[in-house]
Amino acid sequence: MTDRSHRRRAPLLAAPLLLALAACGDVGVQSILHPSGEGARNVARLWWALFAVGMAVYAVVLGILARALFRSRRGQAEPREARVGLWIGIGGGVVPAIILAGVLALTLVTLARDAAAEWRADDLTIKVVGKQWWWDLEYESDTASRRLRTANELHIPVGRTVKLKLEARDVIHSFWVPELQAKRDLVPGRRLEFWLRADRPGVYRGQCAEYCGMQHANMAFLVVAHPQAEYDAWYEAQLRASFAPTTPEAIEGQRVFLEKPCAMCHAIRGTMALAEVGPDLTHLASRRQLAAGTLKNTRGDLGGWIVNPQGIKPGSHMPDVNLSAHELRALLAYLETLR
Ligand code: CUA
Repeated sequence: MTDRSHRRRAPLLAAPLLLALAACGDVGVQSILHPSGEGARNVARLWWALFAVGMAVYAVVLGILARALFRSRRGQAEPREARVGLWIGIGGGVVPAIILAGVLALTLVTLARDAAAEWRADDLTIKVVGKQWWWDLEYESDTASRRLRTANELHIPVGRTVKLKLEARDVIHSFWVPELQAKRDLVPGRRLEFWLRADRPGVYRGQCAEYCGMQHANMAFLVVAHPQAEYDAWYEAQLRASFAPTTPEAIEGQRVFLEKPCAMCHAIRGTMALAEVGPDLTHLASRRQLAAGTLKNTRGDLGGWIVNPQGIKPGSHMPDVNLSAHELRALLAYLETLR
C-alpha cells in the first residue's frame, strides 16, 4: 500500500488534526489515526468503530430531540405515561446494554489480534529500558559480540514482528509510537514483553506516555524502520567499535572525554569509557537527535547541551561540566567522529 493511497482514504474529519501534527516535525504524523504498522492499525480500527458508534448514538439522540421539539411546537398531545416508561426502559437500559456489549466485543477482538501478533514475534529481541529521561536500548543476541547497546533511536527491519522486553529502572514510563503500536507501560521490577512492527520504511516518533517527572515531555525517541538489507548494514556498522581519532583536535577531544567526568557515565566502545549510567555514545554522531529528542544532532546543539544541560533539560542527570572553550571545541571535534 502506498503512502498516497493511504492518505487519500484518511477520513476527512481527521484532516485538520493530521495537518497540524504534520507541521510539528519532519518525522511523520505522530497519530494513531495514521497507522504504519499492524499494532497501530488494530487500535485505529477500534477507534474508528467506536467513533462510528458514538456518532450513530449522537444522531439518534438528536433525531429524538428534534422530533420532541417539533411535536411540542405543533401542540400535539403528550404520549401516554405507560409508553413513556417503556421507552425510558428501552432507551436507558436495553439499547445502552446492547451498544456497550458491542463495544466490549470489538475491544476483545482487538486484544485477541494483539496477542496473536505477539506470538508471531521473531527472534529479533530488543530490550528497552526507560530511565529518567531517556531510553536505553539493547539488541539481544546469544553471541556476546553481536549484542548492541544504543540509545533513543530504535532501528528495526520493515515487515518483521520485533519482540521488545520493556523494563524501567526508576519510575513508571510508557512506550508509545502512535503510528506503529499502542502504549505499553514500563514498570520498575517487572519484565514485560511487547511487540513492534512497521509495514513501511520511515522514521516514526515515539514518546513516553506516562508522567515520569520533570522532563517527561523531553523523553522522546525515534523508531527508524529500514528494509532488511539496510537494517543489516546499520547493525553491522553499529556493532563496530569507535575508530581512534586521527586529527590532533579530535585526539585532544578524546583525552578531554576520558579525563573529564564524561567517561564516568558514558561508554564509547573502543576506549576505556565503559560506564552505563548515561547513553552509549559509540555512534553518537550517527543519531538524528540528542537528549532523547530534545535537540537536533548538530554541532551547535551538542555544544549547548554539553555546556548547559541543566538549562536545556533541568533535572536531568547530565551534570554541568566545566570545560574551557578550547576543550569544548576539541571534545566536539572528537564526538563528531563517532559515526
Ligand atoms: Cu518517562 Cu514520561
